[in-house]
Amino acid sequence: MLPSLLLLLLLFLSAFNSLTSAASDLVFDNFAHCLAGKGIPDDQISSILYSPINASYTSVLQAYIRNRRFNTSTTPKPLLIVTALEEYHVQAAVLCTKRTGLELKIRSGGHDFEGISYVSSVPFVILDMFHLSSIHVDIENEISWVQVGATLGELYYRIWEKSKAHAFPAGVCRSVGVGGHISGGGYGPMLRKYGLTVDNVVDARIVDVKGRILDREAMGEDLFWAIRGGGGASFCVVLAYKIKLVRVPEIVTFFRIVRTMEENVTDLVYSWQQVANTIDNDLFIRVLVQPVTEQINGQSQTTIGATFIALFLGDADGLLSVMNGRFSELGLKKQDCLEMSWGESLLRWEGYASGTPMEAILDKTYANFAKRKSDYVQNPIPRHGLASIFKKVIELNKTVLEFNPYGGRMSEIPESQTPFPHRSEIIFKIEYLVIWQEEGPRFAKKYIEQTRVLYSLMTPFVSKNPRQAFLNYRDLDIGTTDNGKNSYNEGRVYGLKYFKNNFYRLVKVKTMIDPENFFRNEQSIPTRPLRPF
Ligand SMILES: Cc1cc2nc3c(=O)[nH]c(=O)nc-3n(C[C@H](O)[C@H](O)[C@H](O)COP(=O)(O)OP(=O)(O)OC[C@H]3O[C@@H](n4cnc5c(N)ncnc54)[C@H](O)[C@@H]3O)c2cc1C
Ligand SMILES: *[C@@H]1O[C@H](CO)[C@@H](O)[C@H](O)[C@H]1NC(C)=O
Ligand SMILES: *[C@@H]1O[C@H](CO)[C@@H](O)[C@H](O)[C@H]1NC(C)=O
Ligand SMILES: *[C@@H]1O[C@H](CO)[C@@H](O)[C@H](O)[C@H]1NC(C)=O
Ligand SMILES: *[C@@H]1O[C@H](CO)[C@@H](O)[C@H](O)[C@H]1NC(C)=O
Repeated sequence: MLPSLLLLLLLFLSAFNSLTSAASDLVFDNFAHCLAGKGIPDDQISSILYSPINASYTSVLQAYIRNRRFNTSTTPKPLLIVTALEEYHVQAAVLCTKRTGLELKIRSGGHDFEGISYVSSVPFVILDMFHLSSIHVDIENEISWVQVGATLGELYYRIWEKSKAHAFPAGVCRSVGVGGHISGGGYGPMLRKYGLTVDNVVDARIVDVKGRILDREAMGEDLFWAIRGGGGASFCVVLAYKIKLVRVPEIVTFFRIVRTMEENVTDLVYSWQQVANTIDNDLFIRVLVQPVTEQINGQSQTTIGATFIALFLGDADGLLSVMNGRFSELGLKKQDCLEMSWGESLLRWEGYASGTPMEAILDKTYANFAKRKSDYVQNPIPRHGLASIFKKVIELNKTVLEFNPYGGRMSEIPESQTPFPHRSEIIFKIEYLVIWQEEGPRFAKKYIEQTRVLYSLMTPFVSKNPRQAFLNYRDLDIGTTDNGKNSYNEGRVYGLKYFKNNFYRLVKVKTMIDPENFFRNEQSIPTRPLRPF
């Protein structure tokens, strides 16, 4: 059957939401036949290709669903899942999906906040990358090759095994996948010292739209630039990144202290804004603003709490001297300062107790109902602004705000060096975060609405024209394309928020390497329109 006819049939059937098992068989057989034509032996095809007729389809699909909002019976499901075992399986999956005309969703760790690596409103195929997870750490040359299906926890563990003096400046969620995290411009608590993950990537291997495996030299500097923060899924399938390791002292210091309304939390957060992005580059102090319910004079009262969580690349005495010099208002005491190895500090960020073995970082389980949004702050928020925001956080009593400081190395890197544009003018990034456990659309609606209320209240205090957003904090509220059609005008709306003027170079790269727009999704980079713009 001609690919386009197959697609028409699928669209027709999915319109009635009743893909019959006969049609399902047809899709499966067609795809299997195509994979066989690309040299994959039959016994391998039968272990890597799943359609809804396979008993294990559901468990494979659910294994990397990390947001329970997209784990319902009404969530659109893929027609096929390919769990690649080898690089050439990825090449075959790209070419065979192209033939069907279906949309390809690439999934590494599955942590996309809007689930766009495994959900679509149009018929689609999932290419699952979790098997491609090898990590080769070379301490002598201070580099590592890491395949995209590895988790951050696995990467950290492999580095830690070989050296206590080396690290990588990525995020602090162990189960996040390398593929989405690095291609989206991932960051962690060493960004003030070393910048982002993408500032420390030196090579990559990809499969392009023609099914070719290319490294940095073969793909060229434009595409290599794009997959360091522009999101991989608009351009290609990333197979692996070659990263530069960074050096850390054998002793680092961690603290986590809570301040409440009685301790002048508004003043403290106000002061934090004056120092967070200019204090010593070895120090990163995150602030988590959340409602806290306390017993005050026998009465239960909900107020605001600010948790200051920090990593200092040095010992406790060094940290105290930095804090006494610049941020004495916080009242940090020696006993608050916990000295440990960098590896152990990762466990602390994850909330593990002291003494937890390092192997905990290998745990890949993670699932919540969640919604997140992001904002960037360029000027300190005035006291009255903070007070009004805190009042709303108390009133909503569920959504929390996380403030992550920039500055240091982040300010030294020009905006156009990578697609990630939020550099020298940023004091801190805000994450809006609501996590819940109650099932059902009623709760989802209520809690998602909370994040939108806070986002709206924050308008006067954050970046404007465009109102910037962080790609790795995927948020479909800021604009989408219609059913993956990916029109230029729609793409420009979210594209400028995520990438500022780097959007235009991303469009140029996209048009050059994938003019037919095979690699597309709800928020992908569009191709250049036919008429000049
Ligand atoms: C609990 C939690 C904590 C987090 N903490 C941080 C943090 O500290 N710092 C930070 O920067 N971010 C953080 N994030 C966000 C995280 O970095 C992003 O969600 C990231 O995109 C997830 O990557 P993934 O591979 O797990 O996701 P996926 O859902 O698999 O992929 C995300 C996107 O990337 C695309 N993609 C995935 N793999 C490939 C590939 N191989 N080639 C091309 N495209 C690909 C997908 O199609 C999708 O569009 C956190 C997320 C969660 C849930
Ligand atoms: C899925 O079902 C088909 C048809 O019954 C079978 O050939 C194939 O081996 C199954 N695949 C897996 C991964 O179990
Ligand atoms: C998804 O739902 C199934 C039940 O249908 C459950 O077994 C599984 O644990 C859920 N997974 C996640 C990530 O919520
Ligand atoms: C809070 O501020 C008031 C007025 O500035 C001051 O008197 C008080 O000591 C402060 N409290 C704390 C715990 O810092
Ligand atoms: C806020 O939420 C907490 C925990 O869910 C609850 O105990 C408290 O009563 C709530 N406060 C208000 C004012 O609703």
